[in-house]
Amino acid sequence: MQTINQLDALRHHISALRDAKRRVALVPTMGALHDGHMMLVEEARRHADAVVVSIFVNPTQFGPNEDLDAYPRTMERDAELLRAAGVDILWAPHATIVYPPGFASEIHVAGASNGYCGAARPGHFDGVALVVAKLFNQVQPDVALFGEKDFQQLAVIRQMARDLDFALDILGVPIVRDADGLALSSRNAYLTAEERTAALALPAALGQAAAQIRAGDDVGQTLAKASADILAAGFARVDYFALADAVTLEELQHFDGRAARLLASAKMGKTRLIDNLAI
Ligand code: PAF
Repeated sequence: MQTINQLDALRHHISALRDAKRRVALVPTMGALHDGHMMLVEEARRHADAVVVSIFVNPTQFGPNEDLDAYPRTMERDAELLRAAGVDILWAPHATIVYPPGFASEIHVAGASNGYCGAARPGHFDGVALVVAKLFNQVQPDVALFGEKDFQQLAVIRQMARDLDFALDILGVPIVRDADGLALSSRNAYLTAEERTAALALPAALGQAAAQIRAGDDVGQTLAKASADILAAGFARVDYFALADAVTLEELQHFDGRAARLLASAKMGKTRLIDNLAI
């Protein structure tokens, strides 16, 4: 595995891959890798000849009240995991390479960025869209893979890629969960043992609500009960617990049989967790 920090070196390696007609996959990450990321890497290997993983803790997607400095950084361990998984290139640029002095551009993806996490974290998806557009341009992959855990992020990136004519396939990879049901996330590292146990109420409420909605129960009442259940289990706040169209993310008041997704975010202690489930 080549670890690359400079853009000209990355371009050199990518053009060698292109000359050799090799299909390139990109797995964008912010590091602190867990099995969910490694599943993306495994899936990437099925879709390409060469796998590039980026590790970049992107400052533009953190709000003023969110602690960018506290985000877990485990570069050496991450690099070991990626090497063992047969990754070809680790792209680990410094912030000044991604956002050099004088950087002034912004991207806002209207619609998909609205509501849900977009409402709870203003500007977050602008930062995600910006860095992902930059990574697409830097790596020029044939395919890029993202976890379905960040379901709204995936919708924002798909919309951005369509709108800006990025010629690549975007694949969503199903959520990886611990044996007890908690969705894997780098943020789980912030949870105390007690909080982690209480956090299981989130996937449990999603599962229960999905079963009730499929059985024809009233959507509004089901969602209200799910929110009440997770608050009773020890969550400090529910940012949203909603039923949405799986493609447009339009909020649904009734389930009409179309592909739909339950989306939820709630705060456990100081940690905001998100999760979702297909209906
Ligand atoms: O999902 C993430 O880890 C990040 O939002 C991403 C897509 C790597 C952009 O920084």
